[in-house]
Parts: sequence; C-alpha cells; structure tokens
Amino acid sequence: MSEQGLKKVLLSQEDIAQIVARLGREITECYRNSDKELIVIGLLRGSFIFMADLVREIKCPMVTDFMTVSSYGDGTISSGDVKVVMDLDESITGRDILMVEDIIDTGNTFSKVVNMLEGRKPASLRICTLLNKPSRRKVEVKIDFCGIDIPDEFVCGYGLDFAQKFRNVPYVGIYEGPIE
Ligand code: IMP
Ligand code: MG
Repeated sequence: MSEQGLKKVLLSQEDIAQIVARLGREITECYRNSDKELIVIGLLRGSFIFMADLVREIKCPMVTDFMTVSSYGDGTISSGDVKVVMDLDESITGRDILMVEDIIDTGNTFSKVVNMLEGRKPASLRICTLLNKPSRRKVEVKIDFCGIDIPDEFVCGYGLDFAQKFRNVPYVGIYEGPIE
C-alpha cells in the first residue's frame, strides 16, 4: 500500500469508524447527566478530521472550539517546547472540557496544554485521543477516552501529517520515508 507514500495501512477507514463510534458512545454516556455546558476542544491541525467525525457521534448538547499549539517543526522529533499559536474563543471557566487529540506520543505537548487550561478553572477536563503511543511516553498524561494504542511507528493520514502532507489520506498508515 504505497499509492500515497505510506507503506502499510495501520487502521482502515472501517477500523477508524468503529473506534470513533465507540468513543462517541463512551463520551455521550459520561456527559449525559452533566448540568454543565460541554465544550469539545480540538487541537489543530492534526485533530480536525477526527474531531469532525467524533462530534457527530456525541449525542448530547455541546459546543466546539479549537486551539493551535506548536511543538514540532516539520520533522518528527518533539522539541518539548509548546507555544500557543491560536487560543480558544470560548471561556472555559466552570464548563466541562473535552480535549481532542489525534495522537499522544511523548505527552510533552498535551501535558503543557492541559496544565495551561486547568489554570482557567474548568468544572472538569477530560482527554480523548484517537491514537496513543505508550512506548514513547515521557510525561504522564491521564487519557479518559483512548481510541487505540499503536506501536512506535510514525503514522500519517486521517488528519496526521508528515511535513503537512498526508492529512487527507482517509486511513492511518505507516510513513515509509526518512525520519529526521
Ligand atoms: P507529543 O508532544 O510527543 O505527545 O506529540 C504530540 C504531537 O506530535 C501530536 O499532536 C502530533 O501532531 C505529533 N505526532 C506525534 N507522533 C506522530 C506520528 O506518528 N505521526 C504524526 N504526528 C505525530
Ligand atoms: Mg497534533
């Protein structure tokens, strides 16, 4: 499977749809009886496709917001540095927050974003990730809704990129090119 430059399909479109539907059910169950307003926050850009599918599987009232932080350049190695490039529009104080990530790898990016958002005193803050690479973890991250654990491979597609490419590939595949 290299038609789009990815050497192997890790998750097919069907695999992804099943995972997203299951996450949607878990999230719906979790927030169904909450009296707080739910804000689902996507971290751009990687989460945009997952987020679009996920919110349609969440069957309770909610609003969406997005945030852009940067940690990686165009390569694949985390610098450990996180910068807010675009902040949220919504105030999150006193509200239920669900953070949506494409992948949690070392945990560097996410732990910093979570710390920052905790400082704004939401009523609750939970984390949903489609992909999890536990073998690469450097900083502990408490994942409330986890799509699937994957091996230590660089993956692309379904929103995930290498140098901004492959985000439009509809499945998750293993990148075959050189990794800096
Ligand atoms: P962390 O700070 O190491 O957890 O990295 C999180 C971010 O790195 C993710 O949101 C992705 O943007 C990127 N990333 C980590 N692993 C991969 C991968 O296998 N493919 C594409 N992007 C990745
Ligand atoms: Mg990302």
